[in-house]
Amino acid sequence: MLALLEKNRGRYISGEEAAAGLHISRNAVWKAVGVLREEGYRIEAAPRKGYRLAEDSDILSAESLLQEIGLPLQKEQIHVFRELASTNRTAKELALDGAGHGTVVIADRQSRGSGRFSRTFYSPEGGIYMSILLRPDHVPYREPSMITVSAAAVTADAIEMLCGVSPQIKWINDLYLDGKKICGILTESASDFESGELEWIVLGIGINFAVKTRDFPEELRKKAGSIYGDRAPAITRARLAGRIIRGILTVGNRSRKDIIDSYRARLMMKNETVLLRSGGGTETVKMIDIDENGRLIAEDQNGRRKTYFFGEISVRRM
Ligand code: BTN
Repeated sequence: MLALLEKNRGRYISGEEAAAGLHISRNAVWKAVGVLREEGYRIEAAPRKGYRLAEDSDILSAESLLQEIGLPLQKEQIHVFRELASTNRTAKELALDGAGHGTVVIADRQSRGSGRFSRTFYSPEGGIYMSILLRPDHVPYREPSMITVSAAAVTADAIEMLCGVSPQIKWINDLYLDGKKICGILTESASDFESGELEWIVLGIGINFAVKTRDFPEELRKKAGSIYGDRAPAITRARLAGRIIRGILTVGNRSRKDIIDSYRARLMMKNETVLLRSGGGTETVKMIDIDENGRLIAEDQNGRRKTYFFGEISVRRM
């Protein structure tokens, strides 16, 4: 019943039509609607018209995600939680249990969301926190920088397409809007120790979708932003999440050039002097561009061009 309502979101379907489509009685339709309402779905009912899911009903479910993903994924591959410690952590556990390419873990909030450089990622209600498990045989790229770059480009493109705003990207994988970070991506992977073969990749994406700006802790308020900080969201989280998942799972249909071009057009701090910080110390460089593998090209203070693999490097505006 939920899948049917999602498919026809905003449009009424009569009890009769639903009963026929689902091969159940009209009474069973009515009962299913009752159960869904108890779960919090806003389902409107009108005499002689039937039922419809309210446009702004935004409960994450496998059904709502699949509707937007539009690929032949199994419902069982989409794991939806109200709360998790970290979706990346759960996705890694599923990877170790043998879960397949395209497995998705998504939660309304995280109690211990993790970010790069062992930081935490603030993950309250209103955001999108998801991890996508990729198996290397199905991934068009081997270079870790390219996997991360394509995830950032796909996410930025989906936000622009569906939310009508144009995020910029801070190398390598932070998305910014009006100078504030709205999305972070954490890519984790494991290789077989003996063969060195990549076994799995977990792409973790956290988006401040409709986290109220005033709800950010004091220390984040200056740096963190939200797509719909102070206005009502125009779309649901499931639509945006589903579009991103689709984009990531079909990235092989786009050319490398197309992805790199989309990323380049959004690259922040081009031609600016920035501070690169890594385990080995800090370096002042001029940001030039990214290369065809998503690595950073920068110029050191003697005018020499160098390429940086992202590893543990962070970029700071001077
Ligand atoms: C960063 O900004 O340093 C990366 C943040 C990545 C956060 C996402 S939220 C979903 C997934 N689960 C996690 O614990 N982290 C990633």
